[in-house]
Formats: sequence, C-alpha cells, structure tokens
Amino acid sequence: MKSKQYILALDQGTTSSRTLVVDHSGKVISVSQKEFKQIYPKPGWVEHDPMDIWSSQSTTEAEALSQADLSHKDIAAIGITNQRETTVVWDKRTGKPVYNAIVWQDRRTADYCAKLKEQGLEPKFSQKTGLRLDPYFAGTKLRWILENVEGAREDAEAGHLLFGTVDSWLVWKLTGGSVHVTDASNASRTLLYNISEQDWDDEILKTFNIPRVMLPEVKGSSEVYGHTSENVPIAGIAGDQHAALFGQACFDVGMAKNTYGTGCFMLMLTGDKPVFSKNNLLCTIAWKIGDKTEYALEGSIFMGGAVVQWLRDEMKMVGSAEEASWLASSVPDANGMYLVPAFAGLGAPHWDPYARGTCVGMTRGTNRAHFCRAAIEAIAYQSADLAESMKKDSGIEIKELRVDGGASRSEPLMQFQSDLLDVHVIRPENVETTAMGAAYLAGLAVGFWESKQDIIDRWKAGAHFKPERPAEEMKALAAGWDRAVERAKAWEL
Ligand code: G3P
Repeated sequence: MKSKQYILALDQGTTSSRTLVVDHSGKVISVSQKEFKQIYPKPGWVEHDPMDIWSSQSTTEAEALSQADLSHKDIAAIGITNQRETTVVWDKRTGKPVYNAIVWQDRRTADYCAKLKEQGLEPKFSQKTGLRLDPYFAGTKLRWILENVEGAREDAEAGHLLFGTVDSWLVWKLTGGSVHVTDASNASRTLLYNISEQDWDDEILKTFNIPRVMLPEVKGSSEVYGHTSENVPIAGIAGDQHAALFGQACFDVGMAKNTYGTGCFMLMLTGDKPVFSKNNLLCTIAWKIGDKTEYALEGSIFMGGAVVQWLRDEMKMVGSAEEASWLASSVPDANGMYLVPAFAGLGAPHWDPYARGTCVGMTRGTNRAHFCRAAIEAIAYQSADLAESMKKDSGIEIKELRVDGGASRSEPLMQFQSDLLDVHVIRPENVETTAMGAAYLAGLAVGFWESKQDIIDRWKAGAHFKPERPAEEMKALAAGWDRAVERAKAWEL
C-alpha cells in the first residue's frame, strides 16, 4: 500500500481536543476526542491549562492514528484548526506557559475595554482590526497577562516570552519549539492585527504596551509552516469558524454558514476586500491562500449549544442534549416563555458584556418541555439577529444557510431556524466541516488535493429544512424575543 494517503486534522476546541484522519475522498476514517478541564477562578473568568490543551491534543492524535491502524508515515500533512482568541504566553527558554490560557469567553478585561471606549477609541480599533472593543478578543487578554503576572513584562521586553493563540502554541509544540507562527485568520482575531495592511498594528501595540518581539509571524492559511519530529509537514492553519466556512465550501461571495457549537458563529464570505460592518458585526479574514486574502462578515454569539449543556449540567433538567431536543419537540411552542442566555454577556449584535441570563414570560403552566423549547429557540433567535445584521451590511439576502456543529443535529432547532429566517437550512452529510476545512487547507498546500473544486465536489447536502410556519407568526415571536433581550441588558453594572 502506498504511504501518505491520509491527512490529519487537529481540531482544538473550547471544551475538547479532537483529531480526525481523512482520506482522499474526504471520508473521515477515524476520530478521537478528549475533553479537558475548564477552570473558572472567579465569576466571568475562564481559563485552560495550556499543557492540558497540548496533552489532550497529542493523545487524540495518537489514538486516531492507532484506531485507523496507521502511523505518521501514512500522513501527507497535518492541518490545525482551533478555538480562536484564547491567549497563551510561554517562555521560550523553558517551554512553560507563564499563566493559564485566558479563554475567549473570559470577561476580565471588560472594564479596560469600557475605559478605551469612553476615550472614543472604538471606531479607530474597528477600522484597523474589523473587531470591537470587547474582552472577547486576544489583545486585552495578552495585556492583562503582561500587567498582572510577576516578571512577565520584563521577560517579554527582553524577548524571552512568546504570545500565541492556540494554533501558535500547537505548532510550536509540534515542531519542538522551532516555529512561532500563526495564520492570517487567527491573527485577525487578536485586536492587534491591521486587516487591511496585513501587519501587526504598531499604534495598537503601543496603546496596549505589547512588545512586538513576542508576536508570531503571520503566514497564509495553506502552506508548509514546519515539520513534526516524525517529519510530517504542518500545512494548514485556520481559526475554527474560518475552517468551517472553508469546509462548507462557501467559496462564492454571499455564501454563509452557521456553526452551532459552544457558541454560534455565522460567517458570510464577502470577497477580497474587507467589508466593515455598520450593524455591529465583525469583519474578519476568512483565509489567506497564496497571495490572496479573502474576508468575511461574522456574527458571534457566546452561548449556543452551551445553553443545552447548561440545562443538562447545571439545571439537571435533562440527562442529555437529545432529551432536551426531544422535550422541545413535544410541545408546539414555549408557551410564551423566552430564555436569553446572556451568561457571558451578549455578543453580536448587542455587545453588552454586562448583560446576564434572563427568563421572562413564565406562567403557572410553564413546564420542563417549555423550558427546553425556550432554550433551543433562544439559539435560533440569536442566530436570526446575526442574519438580519448581515443582510443589512452586505445587501445580500441569504438564500440558504449551511449549518454544522453539535447542536445542528437538533431537528426542532433546525426547523425553527428555517421558519424564523424564512430560508432553507442545509446540514451537510458530513458535519465535520471544521476539521474538514483544516484538512483541505493542509491537503491543498501539499498537492494532496488540487483545487477548491475538489472540495466543492466532496460537499454533499444531507438534511434540508424548509420554512413551514407563516411569516407573520414568526415576526410576532421575534418581537417578543427583542423585548426579552432588552430585559437582559446592562444587568451587572
Ligand atoms: O471564537 C471562539 C470560537 O472559535 C470557539 O469555537 O467551537 O470551540 O466553541 P468552539
């Protein structure tokens, strides 16, 4: 049998690390997944141990290979996709992180962001980075580490410390500490990267007091960055949402996908010029391949599938996500109840880090099934808010929405989403689009696949949801949602 017939996709997510082995036909041969510890030191703070990230990722890599009865010599290339914005700082002399990774959901820099906003700086930041002054992004998290970890600033200035999002950390570990890079899509989530000039922005670095020397070199999303100790090329990197857009074969301007993971992330490809949002979305680099950079509009909400996890783990209302979905479909509606899951504030299009979770509209007749229904509908309402802003920004009516992520398996959620948006919702046969995106980016770089057409050919529609309920009814329900969101805003002041 010929060697190098497979691609390894490393998918480092917020709650678990996964590795997939993919063959040339785009078929997933094996999958290994490992959850790792979530650390909540204070309300609103979320951390990961970078060594846990690394060890869980390498364990799944070994397991996925062994499940498929393969070794590294069967692998043509490795592609990496990752939870974005999560910030790691490590000492290049020892290879040890100087602090836990500060996770994208962490809100500890909210007051600092508010201070910069009061100084009227948000428009400047948006113009340069496409982002908002929100604690979501990496830049203020990195600044926090430099300000709060003893000795970090001195060591960073002396050139001993390196910063990276999770992709950089993994590449550095995989190459035995010899390569310090990121790709343009991940760089575009740091609040430090000028997405038009495509370079770290000196003015922003000065504002945050971040030494340039600690930043990774920004590369394309599909090229060979280095090799592992087994001599396998690492040839693709993209943030997970960007990889999902790629894996969904959204290659034409106006094509959009929504991923229902921990949060929900809707991205629409806008072409080779940045389209800056006027409706509270983000402008982000979709990917850079060769010399061509393409951009996307993005709507990010922080609680998507995590709402169902909350029902299961914290509220103990259901035993599994499937049960929540089943209960939600056992009732025709939420009986007037709305659940706004602003547990970590509200992301797009509201951007209120001080909003908190809110339930309204309950009566004596509200039961567990209505609660589950309201939770599932909340995911769809939040996504519909994103789609509305996207339409205003791009002037493009979304005709079909490609969906993926764990919660896209929920039939009542997908049907309600289609009814609410009045669009066709299409779930592909292979919902591993994030990992597939990373695999494709790596495979294209080493000639394993020839062109984007190979990806288009491998994307197959699976389930298709069409609008069924009258638009007027959905409009009235959405108006109730808007009122509920107002109640959740600016709670924790
Ligand atoms: O921006 C955060 C996002 O990249 C996290 O994705 O799939 O780990 O929830 P996920």
